[in-house]
This record gives sequence, C-alpha cells and structure tokens, in this order.
Amino acid sequence: METFEILVLPGDGIGVEVTEQALRVLEAIQESDASFRLELKMLPWSTDYYMEHGHTVPDDYLDTLRGSDAIFLGALGDPDRVPDHITLKPLINIRQAFDQYACVRPARLFPGVRTPLANKGPSDIDILVVRENSEGEYVDNGGKFKVGTEDEFAVQSALHTRKGIERVLRFGFDLARERRNHLTMITKSNAQRYAYVLWDLVLEGLEGDYTDVEIDKLHVDAAVMNFVRWPERFDVVVASNLFGDILTDLSGILAGGLGLSPSANINPERTFPSMFEPVHGSAPDIAGKGIANPTAAILSAANMLQWLGLPKPASAVHAAVEATFAQGSTTPDLGGELGTAAFTDRIIGNLATGFLR
Ligand code: NAD
Ligand code: IPM
Ligand code: MN
Repeated sequence: METFEILVLPGDGIGVEVTEQALRVLEAIQESDASFRLELKMLPWSTDYYMEHGHTVPDDYLDTLRGSDAIFLGALGDPDRVPDHITLKPLINIRQAFDQYACVRPARLFPGVRTPLANKGPSDIDILVVRENSEGEYVDNGGKFKVGTEDEFAVQSALHTRKGIERVLRFGFDLARERRNHLTMITKSNAQRYAYVLWDLVLEGLEGDYTDVEIDKLHVDAAVMNFVRWPERFDVVVASNLFGDILTDLSGILAGGLGLSPSANINPERTFPSMFEPVHGSAPDIAGKGIANPTAAILSAANMLQWLGLPKPASAVHAAVEATFAQGSTTPDLGGELGTAAFTDRIIGNLATGFLR
C-alpha cells in the first residue's frame, strides 16, 4: 500500500472548520479505497500559537515541512489579534522557499450553483488562473524611512525574472493544451514599462513553441471587465503574483463564491512538497458559526490526491461534490440552509454511491 505523509495546518477561523471537513472526506475515501494511506500530521500553527509563543510558526518550520509529501492548509489570519502581514508571512515564505511557482486556481460553475452574472451558466464559466507564485510583487524587498515624521516614506519593489516568467507561462501553455487551447496573459505593460514589458517579451519568445494554442494579452483593468462581461472567452489565464491574487477572488465569485474555489501551490519539479489550500481566508465574519462552505477545502484535498498520483479517488471526490450541488444541496453563502458538517455529510453520501456505481 502506498503511504503519503501530509502535514496539515488548519490555521485560524473557518480554516479550522473547513479543514476538519476536508479530512472527513479524505478519511471516507480511504475507507473505500485500500490502495493508499494518508498519514496526517496536524500542526497547530495559527494566531493562537502566536499568542502563546510570539510567532505564528516555529523557527524550523521549513525543515518540518520539507520532507512531507504534501502540505494542506486551511487559512491563516485573525487581524483583530495580530496584523495580517505578520501572520501571513510564513505562508508567502513557504510558497517561495519551496519554489511553488505555479499557483493553480480553477473556477468552474457547477450545475446547481448560481453565478451573480445575469444570463450566464455553467457552459460560460470555466476559467483556470495560473498565478505566478514565487516572485513578482510578493518579493520581500523594501524599506521605510523617516518613520513617524511627516516625511515618512516606504518603498516596495517587485521583482520579475525572465526565468520565473517563462516557467509559469510554459506551465500555463501545457494546461491550455489539456483544455481548450487558449491562453490569456494578463499584465499592465502599458504603464509598468520594465516588469510587464518583460512579460510581453518572454511571451513573444514562446509563441513559436505553442502554435496550437491561441494567445491573447490583456491589461489587468480590461481583464477584470471582461471576466464579468465575457467569462466564456477565458480558458487558461496566466498572471503575475498580485494580479493572480486579485483575479482569483473575482473568478471565484463568478463561479458561485470563494467557498468553492480551490488552490494548489505547485512545485512542478517535485523538488519540494506542494501545498493545497482554499483561495479564501479565515473569514472572521462567519467563523465559529458552523456555516462556512467546505467545498473549496474539499476540492483542494481532491487536487492534492491528484498531485500525489491518485486520480481515481480525486475524481470520485470531484464527482461527489458536483452530484451534491446538482441535487440542490447548498450552504448559506449559496442561499441554502445546510451547515458546514451537514453539507459535507451529503458529499460523503454521494461518494459512497459514486463508488458503488
Ligand atoms: P476571506 O476570504 O476570509 O473572506 C471574504 C468573504 O468571503 C467573507 O465575507 C467571507 O465570509 C466569505 N467567505 C470566504 N470563505 C468562505 C467560505 N468557505 N464559505 C462561505 N463564505 C466564505 O477574506 P478576508 O475577509 O479578506 O480575510 C480574512 C482573513 O483571512 C485575513 O486575516 C486575511 O489576511 C486572511 N486570508 C488568509 C488566506 C490564507 O490563509 N490562504 C487567504 C485570504 C485571506
Ligand atoms: C491568497 C491570499 C494570500 C495572498 C494572502 C493571505 C497573503 O490572499 O492566497 O490568495 O495574497 O497570496
Ligand atoms: Mn487572495
């Protein structure tokens, strides 16, 4: 039997609530498939941990994570207790230290789920954003000066490398070939004339390698408008770190909401573990109420199985989620009445029938 070591960080707020449900689904799938075993190791790193130890994660956290087969994260952040830029720093560090440069964020509208867009349905919304996840606007490079005076200023520089741009674009092109052979690169090269013009140049250099893929380029301002106006024109979208972050809250809501949006931080070379997490955060506004939608976490767990080389159980989870929505079951964010655990019960129920069929 194949065994995988998974390090699990539930984190804060609804991160804890949705992780619990994702683990229930993983447990259920293992009960019906004896070919693999996940060894889950829970890590308490969170804002509570910070209150006790003075830091969100221990000093040797990267060493702890490095040897695992995958990392599963709920969400971090409790800004009423600790500022986000402190709590979230380790998350960004993990993505960068483990060279998880391809952040894959699908947004597909399932039958049974409503999009806020009028006159659009499941056949119109199937966007896969590949977010550059290792450099760009998230590089920890800057400083502040004359702090506390009226001349105070801050500098924060983005860093874009030819290598970093090329590898994430190639990753996007490969995914486009498995989908609808269309790639849109989103930048702001009309205003940011160094960094995003480099993106344009790198894309130009790659076009000859992917003549079977239709290529579009958009500036990010036009792109957000077109996500809303013509979502059906998007297949694979590749964007820098910050733009990819912003675009995936938008693509998430187009597909019904953040409670449905999975994310995978992939190190394609498998030199380091990859990390799976929802796109959403700890949602303090609904934390503790038992109403968070666990779908994003559950789909992230399914995508983790896929990455671990377990396509059958991964597809079974996806099918069970889709069947549950098709039956009209939903959580309050989608207008339904089921709580987090009750909704997961339905998914687990559909998992069983899926396997029997
Ligand atoms: P958020 O994603 O937590 O919530 C945004 C909105 O979406 C809220 O109204 C929330 O109730 C709703 N929502 C999110 N997930 C939902 C779900 N599963 N079910 C139902 N509704 C859901 O974003 P925010 O409020 O800007 O951030 C809250 C905290 O989370 C902050 O500390 C932020 O820094 C952090 N954050 C962490 C991560 C992460 O750990 N990966 C990601 C994003 C935000
Ligand atoms: C995300 C989050 C993070 C990001 C924050 C919490 C640092 O918004 O995963 O989308 O910006 O990457
Ligand atoms: Mn985000």
